[in-house]
Amino acid sequence: MTGNIYTSRILILNFGSQYSQLLVRRVRELGVYCELRAWDITEMQIRDFAPHGIILSGGPESTIKSNSPRASEYIFQAGVPVLGICYGMQIITVQLGGQVNKTTNLREFGYAQVAVITNSPLVQNIQDDISSNGQPLLDVWMSHNDNVTSIPHDFITVASTKTCKFAIVANEIKRFYGVQFHPEVTHTKQGQHIIKRFVLDICCCQALWTPTQIKINAIARIREQVGDERVILGLSGGVDSSVTAMLLHYAIGDHLTCVFVDNGLLRFDEANQVLEMFRNHFGLNIVYVPSENRFLSALAGIKDPEVKRKIIGRVFIKIFEEQAQRLKSDIQWLAQGTIYPDIIESAVSTTSKAHMIKSHHNVGGLPKKLKMRLIEPLKELFKDEVRKIGLELGLPYDILYRHPFPGPGLGVRVLGEVKKEYCDLLRRADLIFIEELHKANLYYKVSQAFAVFIPISSVGIMGDSRKYQPVISLRAVETIDFMTAQWAHLPYELLESVSNRIINEIDGISRVVYDISGKPPATIEWE
Ligand code: XMP
Repeated sequence: MTGNIYTSRILILNFGSQYSQLLVRRVRELGVYCELRAWDITEMQIRDFAPHGIILSGGPESTIKSNSPRASEYIFQAGVPVLGICYGMQIITVQLGGQVNKTTNLREFGYAQVAVITNSPLVQNIQDDISSNGQPLLDVWMSHNDNVTSIPHDFITVASTKTCKFAIVANEIKRFYGVQFHPEVTHTKQGQHIIKRFVLDICCCQALWTPTQIKINAIARIREQVGDERVILGLSGGVDSSVTAMLLHYAIGDHLTCVFVDNGLLRFDEANQVLEMFRNHFGLNIVYVPSENRFLSALAGIKDPEVKRKIIGRVFIKIFEEQAQRLKSDIQWLAQGTIYPDIIESAVSTTSKAHMIKSHHNVGGLPKKLKMRLIEPLKELFKDEVRKIGLELGLPYDILYRHPFPGPGLGVRVLGEVKKEYCDLLRRADLIFIEELHKANLYYKVSQAFAVFIPISSVGIMGDSRKYQPVISLRAVETIDFMTAQWAHLPYELLESVSNRIINEIDGISRVVYDISGKPPATIEWE
C-alpha cells in the first residue's frame, strides 16, 4: 500500500441494507477511507484490515430467527469503537447479552423524533429541536420490525422515542454504540453529523481521503505496479475510462496506449471530440479504430434488443482483441475503469442481487484471453470520487458530469433494426434536445436526457406537401440511483422549442413526442 490515505480506516460490515453503499459514501465524504465487506468476514480478515472503527449496517433479517447473520465475536474484542445501525444495533444487543423481540403493533417506519436523555459523545450538542423539559430532540428515519427490549448490562440508554425505548444505546467505556435509525439517509437531518462524531471523534480517524491525495496515491501506485512496462486501455470517452486514461497518462506517459473503437453509434461529433481532447489537447497515445461498418453490418436485419446488445458487445471485444493482439508483444498490462460499485455488487453483497433486466456490455471478458495482467486504478472509488479526481486531473466539467450514455450507444436508441441513416437523424435530434436543455439551464437538473428514434412513419404536412416520416421521442428522467426514475416535468415552452427545431431543421422527421413513463415499469432506455 502506498502513501498514507489508508492509514485511517473504517470497516463496514454489510448485513444487506439497501443503504449500505450510501453508508460507505457518507464515511468517505468525511475524508476517511472505508470498505464495505460481507458480514461473515473472518477474524483474520478483520485483523488484516486493521480498522480504526467498525460499523454494522442495517439489514432485512431478524435476529430472532435462528441462523440469522451474526458478526464475528472478534469485533467486540478488537479494541476499536463499534457502531451498529438498526439490524447492526440488534446484533450488538443479542451478541452482548441483551434481548430483541418482535414488535407487535409498534413497528416503526419513517420519520420519528428521538429525545436524548443521557449525554453521549455520539450526539453531544447535536439537535434539531429541544423538548419542553430541555431534552435535545433529533429528527430521524426509522425502519424496524423488531425492538430491543433489554440492553446488555454494561450499556446505557442515550435516547428514546415514544414507542422505542432504546433508540440510541451506548457502552461509553468500550465505545460501542447502537442506533435504531438510519443516520446515513438525508431524512435523518443530523445523520452526517452523528457519523462524523463516530468516525472522527470517537474512532479518532484523520481526514486523509481527499481527491488530491487519492490522485497522487493512485499515480504512485500505478508507477509502482507497472514499472517500465506498457499498458493498453479501451477508451470510450465516458467518465470512468477517461479518468483511468488520465491517471495512467500522468503515471506512465507514452507507455500507455489507448484504443478508441468508434462503433458509429456515438453521439453527434463525439468521436472527433474524444480525439481532439485526448490526442491533441492532452497528448495521449491513441489508436483510433473507425468501425462503423463492422458494427452496422453485424446489426443488419437484427431487431431484438437483447440480441443487438450482445452483438455490439461481441464485435467490440473482437475489435479490441485484434488491436491488443497486434500490440501485444509490446504490452503487458490491460487497464480497466472498474469502479467500486461494480465490485461491491458483484462480489460482496450477500443478499440477493437485483435482477438483471438488460445485459450491460463491458470489457470484463477480456483479460483471460489476452493473458495480460489487469490494472484497475479506480476500483476503490465511487463515481462521485472518480469525477472529483477527473477535475483534479484537468478533465473538463462537462465531460465528467455529462449524462450517462449506454455502452451499446445509439444501437439501443434506434428501435428495431439499426441503420446509418436512422443514427444520423437521431444524432441531430439528440443534439438539438441537449442544446435546448443547456440553453434553458436544465441539463444538469435532469439526470439523463436523450432522443429515441422510432422507425414508424406518421403523416405530417410541411408546406404544401404530405410527409410520411419516422417519429422522435424525447426522454428525460430524474433519478438518484438509476434503479427507479421519474419522467422529468420539463417546461412546455422548452418541449415546444425542441419539437419545432427538430421538425424544422431535420428533413426526415415530422413528429416529436415526449415519453411520460416512470421506471418502473418502463426502463430509462427504450431497449
Ligand atoms: P435502464 O434502461 O436499464 O438504464 O433503465 C439504467 C441506466 O443504465 C444505462 N444503461 C447502460 N449503461 N451499458 C451501460 O454502460 C449498457 O449496456 C446500458 N444499458 C443501459 C442507462 O442509460 C441508464 O442510465
